[in-house]
Amino acid sequence: MMKRIVLFSCIIALLISCKKESYVAKHGLITEKAMVVSAREEASKIGADILEKGGNAFDAMVATELALAVAYPYAGNIGGGGFMIYRKNDGSIGSIDYREKAPRSATKDMFLDSLGNAITAKSRYGAQAVGVPGTIAGVFAVHEKFGSLPIEELIQPAIDLAKRGVIITQKQEKRLKEYQKKIIEVSGDSTRWAGNFPEKDTIKYPQLARTLEQLLKNGRDGFYKGEVAQKLVNFLQDRGGIITREDLEKYEAKWRAPVTFRYDDLKVISMSPPSSGGICLAQIMKMIEPYDVSQYGHNSVKTIQVVAEAERRAYADRSFFLGDPDFVEIPLKNLLDDDYLRKRMQDFSFDKPTPSSEVSHGDITIIESNETTHYAIVDPYGNAVSVTTTVNGAYGGKLFCDELGFFLNNEMDDFSAKPGTPNMFGLVGAEANSIAPEKRMLSSMTPTIIEKNGELWMVVGTRGGSTIITSVLQTILNVHEFGMTMQEAVNAPRFHHQWLPDKVQLEEGKFSEEFKQKIRDKGYEVKEYDNPSIGNMVGILVLPSGKLEGSEDLRGDDGAVGF
Ligand code: DON
Repeated sequence: MMKRIVLFSCIIALLISCKKESYVAKHGLITEKAMVVSAREEASKIGADILEKGGNAFDAMVATELALAVAYPYAGNIGGGGFMIYRKNDGSIGSIDYREKAPRSATKDMFLDSLGNAITAKSRYGAQAVGVPGTIAGVFAVHEKFGSLPIEELIQPAIDLAKRGVIITQKQEKRLKEYQKKIIEVSGDSTRWAGNFPEKDTIKYPQLARTLEQLLKNGRDGFYKGEVAQKLVNFLQDRGGIITREDLEKYEAKWRAPVTFRYDDLKVISMSPPSSGGICLAQIMKMIEPYDVSQYGHNSVKTIQVVAEAERRAYADRSFFLGDPDFVEIPLKNLLDDDYLRKRMQDFSFDKPTPSSEVSHGDITIIESNETTHYAIVDPYGNAVSVTTTVNGAYGGKLFCDELGFFLNNEMDDFSAKPGTPNMFGLVGAEANSIAPEKRMLSSMTPTIIEKNGELWMVVGTRGGSTIITSVLQTILNVHEFGMTMQEAVNAPRFHHQWLPDKVQLEEGKFSEEFKQKIRDKGYEVKEYDNPSIGNMVGILVLPSGKLEGSEDLRGDDGAVGF
């Protein structure tokens, strides 16, 4: 009898685990009308609760962004910045840029030594690496334009979460251990992060709760003026930083026109400069459109060849032409021109690679005239937002302000400190992305919304530094070209090429040796992408039934919540 019970229990356990497996492999959470997907379930739930209360996607954006600042200090932030793309239910589209800015006293060569060499530690760690944070300006601007609930109701859940605390996941414990030494080195050994943070413990954030309470009292000025601003400036200046009260006071988020383009029967809406995301995505997709990738097959040698070659050319253009559009002229029309992109691919051949040394930026005459997180929201009214927000590196520049309770970004490293010298993502830049006072550093963040036949179809984005653009690309192709569900598209192994280094980078442990050899046989150098930053892809897909499918990327602790 006992044996039979044991056998029966084993079968049930097996069935349950199979169900979980097939659930993960086949499709994500399916809901009737609303969904929030973010890097932490706690934050998604806060956003979804706002939607259930009758708030719209923009209200939920404010609540989710602030909740991520509490639940996901790795990347969620009030000490960083981001971008949001939106599509309202009437089809109108737009975007907001709340990217960090260089302080007013920043200089072009502030990260160079006396010999003119880049001092990477300076742009990556500590107080000088910090760009003027934009997140609080961003959420207030979004609320002012589109919010429907009182802002206090959107801020309060993050304060409650900070006081209640957040349970440490296994992945978080591992991450904290990995970065603890550097955080202590930068922030001092009295920082709270010098402690022990085992899985399943709860971390509370009383200082962050107090900082957020200033927003309840004083609105955006609660961050950019007054007590918090003064404490932040003192904290940074004591550590050699150059951000002033005036830098904070002057910070404004900017509404910008998104980049839009067609690919087959899709209309893709993505972020314009100062992110390179939309332009690069458009260039790559338009370059591969003439090729029948669905015929070649998902992650086949031919598909990887054509996509990597398009990526190579787009990243070469990125490095030369792109920067903050308020400072440099960007030849947007030329870069997205069909003839131009056809010519860019003219020397592509399936027989051998085009070495990056032979690929430069395209011939266009300009006529004068490492942490991030993505979340996606669809509300019951049919509005959608796609948001990527970041402090750049994992825990930003590892500089934690204990008094105010948050990490500061190291976004200054996204500038090109010296032409040709790679930043922490190996990206090189030129004059267009050089440092200047009040300039925004070039980003790769690619918050994207896609329409199919004029209707909302997909909301997608990810973290992952330079790999953001190519991960977004592959996720779209996985659904559109290769017929995957949203979840399968996110699960699928990813690859990446960014012109320099001249390598096809394959997600670590996901491609067989035999397959890698096939790519090598075509003449490509292959590298395993071992940085965890290949992305946490977030996606919501509108199914033919009108229901929503939200994916959860197992590479992180993502949570999809909806109703
Ligand atoms: O804006 C950018 O492109 C980078 N600061 C993004 C950093 C990032 O995605 C780090 N996450 N893995």
